[in-house]
Amino acid sequence: MGKLGWSLFLLLAVLVGYIWYEPAFDPESLRGARVVVTGCSSGIGEQMAYHYAGFGARVLITARREGRLKEVVAKMKDLGAQEAIYVAGDMGKPEDCERTIQTAKEKFGGLDYLVINHASLSTLKKKNKSPFWDGDMDILHAEVTTNYNSYIQLASLALPLLHKTNGSLVIVGSMAGKIASPFSTFYAGTKFALDGFFASLRQELVMQGVNVSITYCVIGLVDTGLPAKFKEMFGFLMDIPAAPPSDCAMAIIRGGAARQREIYYPWRDAWVATKLSTIVPQFFESLTRGIYPQKLEKSPLFTGEEN
Ligand SMILES: *[C@@H]1O[C@H](CO)[C@@H](O)[C@H](O)[C@H]1NC(C)=O
Ligand SMILES: *[C@@H]1O[C@H](CO)[C@@H](O)[C@H](O)[C@H]1NC(C)=O
Repeated sequence: MGKLGWSLFLLLAVLVGYIWYEPAFDPESLRGARVVVTGCSSGIGEQMAYHYAGFGARVLITARREGRLKEVVAKMKDLGAQEAIYVAGDMGKPEDCERTIQTAKEKFGGLDYLVINHASLSTLKKKNKSPFWDGDMDILHAEVTTNYNSYIQLASLALPLLHKTNGSLVIVGSMAGKIASPFSTFYAGTKFALDGFFASLRQELVMQGVNVSITYCVIGLVDTGLPAKFKEMFGFLMDIPAAPPSDCAMAIIRGGAARQREIYYPWRDAWVATKLSTIVPQFFESLTRGIYPQKLEKSPLFTGEEN
């Protein structure tokens, strides 16, 4: 092989090694670990609650629906959680964020993991049937309050506790926080913002000698029932297969326990798409637009209708 051949071979080997590399994960490290997970009434959050329970952790879960929380907590106890408790509340409200971290402090006497996962589904509250951005500032404020501000508030409240234990902060972000696809304007806005905020904070912690890891999770399409709701609302479905929430939940837990900077799940779309979009952005954008039906109801903003 010539020089070029060897160089290409080396590059390929490094790439394959990078892809195959999985940091060591010791399930025993989670036994007795004190964990807070938000947004656990369904989907990925609910599955994380069950996995942490199975590893024998002490877990506090949150969501708005108390009835659902009671059911999830009962199942967590069956699965082997050392302790399973809940706080029913709306993370969009500062006082509920405070109550969550305060309860963990009182009941657990400390904290090892804060996994921030909740999301408000403002898109589904839109008044019109157009999936395009229509200038609705009320929805934007709701989205920013619940999906951005509350993440920072929870993290800020928990940092003194995590500092004491050299703990971990896990931010459940999205592929929409790395690549913007159509129909995710305000959602993508908050997820990009979270990546920016926590990437900066990660460096500040290092500079201050604070050994708290921050894991940003780049989550692709996972079958949380959202794609179906989207179809109900707007009449179309993104034609790409969705990954199972349980596997996704496990990938997030492993990434947090291994103190990784980022995790990508499902790897095949989230990592490949993110990297591809930075190398050939315009090609990637046209590819993304191709996933959606080309004839959709236009935004009132551009048709002159009233909001
Ligand atoms: C930070 O804390 C983790 C978890 O306790 C530990 O494994 C790691 O060695 C610590 N890092 C440093 C630089 O001491
Ligand atoms: C936390 O990490 C620091 C290094 O940043 C280390 O000196 C200390 O021993 C660790 N403490 C615990 C409780 O693991």
